[in-house]
Amino acid sequence: MKIRVPATSANLGPGFDTLGLALNLYNEYEFIKSDESKIIENDEVSLAVDNLIYKSFCKTFEKFNKKIIPVTIKVNSNIPRSRGLGSSSSCIVGGIVGAYLILNRTLDRDEILQIASEIEGHPDNVCPAIFGNITVTVNENGENIKNIIKPKNNYKFLAFIPDFLLNTSDARKVLPKNYSKEDAVFNISRTALLISSLILGDDENLKISLEDKIHQDYRGKLIPDFDKIFEFLNANSLGCYLSGAGPTIMAISNCDDDLIKNFYEFSKELRVKWEVLELKINTVGFEILD
Ligand code: HSE
Repeated sequence: MKIRVPATSANLGPGFDTLGLALNLYNEYEFIKSDESKIIENDEVSLAVDNLIYKSFCKTFEKFNKKIIPVTIKVNSNIPRSRGLGSSSSCIVGGIVGAYLILNRTLDRDEILQIASEIEGHPDNVCPAIFGNITVTVNENGENIKNIIKPKNNYKFLAFIPDFLLNTSDARKVLPKNYSKEDAVFNISRTALLISSLILGDDENLKISLEDKIHQDYRGKLIPDFDKIFEFLNANSLGCYLSGAGPTIMAISNCDDDLIKNFYEFSKELRVKWEVLELKINTVGFEILD
């Protein structure tokens, strides 16, 4: 039983803990019933007990009051870890879907969203990993309400990924406890503009609509040359934002241009090494391969 789960990019600027999108970059997870549980990742065997895929697998069994069936989980990972591209969410969704398959349970995606967001703590990465596209997810008294959005235009998402890790928990610690009314209005207005612009295909306003006062500036301080890179990407694309908790910066583009080539030239003067992945939106979420 093999599953592939897409990478995701959360927040999309102002939509902190709410907006996310799925990308055509994948981790694959294969579940094989065995005598004891273990993980095999790129030919390396490890214990399953502390692994997020396995923990999510077990949580799902517990949720349905079932005795855990031992499995070997083979992982083929392509999503860079701790880079703001949803690798944890992919593992969580992979583990849950693996449990559903082993339990022979109907793959109810809304039910899977509920379990996944309880494990992750916020729904903005797991939701697009499950449903694909761009998602809006709202937690109402513990229940998730979601809308799926297909942007009118066909965009490229260029992921600028530095060669250092940033854990989400560390990147959440630097955020303030409270925000001013001005900052709240700033983000509400940008989020509404962003969603309407994506639906209407209005690229003119994307740059402004990706602005944020909730997390980007605070997290930017953890990323060498953040302001410089942001300025460069904003000047050379439709707009950019910090992907998830960072450190990846995502630029949106709608044309074949020299952005990547120019960035590599520009990045020679930066303090850390950056690589660029050219991605598209995934429109289906997780898939069962066999
Ligand atoms: N919304 C989350 C955050 C995404 O920004 O912390 C990362 O999991």
